[in-house]
Formats: sequence, structure tokens, C-alpha cells
Amino acid sequence: MRKQIAAANWKMNLTLSEAGTLLDELLKTPYSLKENQEAIFAVPAPYIPLTIEKLSGNNNFFVAAQNCHQKTSGAYTGEVSATMFASMGVKHIVIGHSERREYFMESDALLAEKVDAVLTIGSTPIFCCGEPLAIREAGAQNDFVAEQLKSSLFHLSAEQLLNVVIAYEPIWAIGTGKTASSEQAQEIHAFIRTVLAAKYGQAIADQISILYGGSVKAANAVELFSQKDVDGGLVGGASLIATEFTAIIKALK
Ligand code: PGA
Repeated sequence: MRKQIAAANWKMNLTLSEAGTLLDELLKTPYSLKENQEAIFAVPAPYIPLTIEKLSGNNNFFVAAQNCHQKTSGAYTGEVSATMFASMGVKHIVIGHSERREYFMESDALLAEKVDAVLTIGSTPIFCCGEPLAIREAGAQNDFVAEQLKSSLFHLSAEQLLNVVIAYEPIWAIGTGKTASSEQAQEIHAFIRTVLAAKYGQAIADQISILYGGSVKAANAVELFSQKDVDGGLVGGASLIATEFTAIIKALK
């Protein structure tokens, strides 16, 4: 059964004490996640130890990093490697968020290296893809997203791909309050699965979790997550509000 995942992406937000308060509030609610359901918190790197401590004892709750360097170690001042994150107990790393692609010039080729770095250490990349508004308006989103997947993931073996989570995040829906409709989300998620199936076979494609991201909130999570090929969400703004993210976790199917 595919994993259903509510992933918080805090981005560069909150002070350490605000982070602690948010986690305390979130964890006041009792959750009884099913075996295939997970809540993942991609927090700023310095808050990882605090988050691990707060989440301990909560089954199927995990901390994630928001990015990593492609190399294991070396003279790369200011960078953090997947190996370092793994040594802290972090098993998931967001790779290729559109903000990294846009503001830090991360190319498909670089992201392929980062995906390798994460998989090599036995961790899970949450690989982001998604088209800008102009591409959507031109109706070219499928080709655009297929190209992103091919360029950064298709060098992987089927066995490696099984350890990848994909997050489809249309750039025009991120932080804008504009969400893809559940039909739009389902359509492109099904397309992504078709692209994976063409390369790796249907049985493999059926096991890959594909999250939707872009203005997911409590009010739209149930409908989005109920779509056949939507396996949860990657959530920015609403993950900073305890009541919102609690409801989003509870919306997992
Ligand atoms: P948003 O961000 O939920 O604030 O739109 C999603 C993301 O960037 O992952």
C-alpha cells in the first residue's frame, strides 16, 4: 500500500522558541496514524534536534531537512550533507523545491546528484517538480514535468526509485492562495504515474507516493487527498499554524 504523507515545509520561518511552541501545540492532539500514514516536518536545519526530541514517541512522525549538498563532506563552507543529516537521525530530505531551483539556480543535473547523495546514505528524497504559470497557460505542463522527472530521476534503478517520494507543486499555486483544483491535481498526478510506469513498469509506479503542494490548507486537504493518485501534501504556509496542520494530517486517506 502506498504511503500517505502530510509533509510540513516550514521554509525559513520561526525562531527556535516559536518552533517549540508550534510542535507542542500540534502534538497536543492525539493522532493514531495508520501504518501507511506519515507526518513529516521539514524544518530549518538548526531546529532538527529540537524537532526530533519533540516528535519522539509519536509513531510515524518524522523530521526532514529542506535541502542538502550533493557531496558527502569537504571544503564547502556553510553547506550540510545528506550524510550529516542522516547522522542526526534525519531520514527524509526535500530536494529540488522550486524556491531552490529559482533562487539558488539548482539545475536538473545538480538535483540528480543530490538525489543520489540522499539515496546513497539510505535516506528518502522528497523530490519536487512542477511548472510555472506560463507553462500551465500554454498547456505544456505535462511535458515540462516529465522532463524534470526524466532529467533528475530516470538514471535511478527501480529499486532506488522505490525510496523516492515525489511532490508535484505547480509554482503558480505556491504561497499564492491559488490551489490547483482537485481535478487538475488528479490529472497531473495520474500523468506522473504514467511517466513512471512507462520507464519502470506499472507495479513500481503504483508504489510511489506522489504528494501535492501549493496552498494546501485544512479547507481543501480532504478533497485533494481523496483523489486516487494524490498521496498527501507538501504544505508551506498552513504548516505554520497548528490547527491547520493538525487537520491536514487528519485528512490523510
Ligand atoms: P504553500 O507552499 O503551501 O505555502 O503554498 C508549499 C511549498 O512551497 O511546499
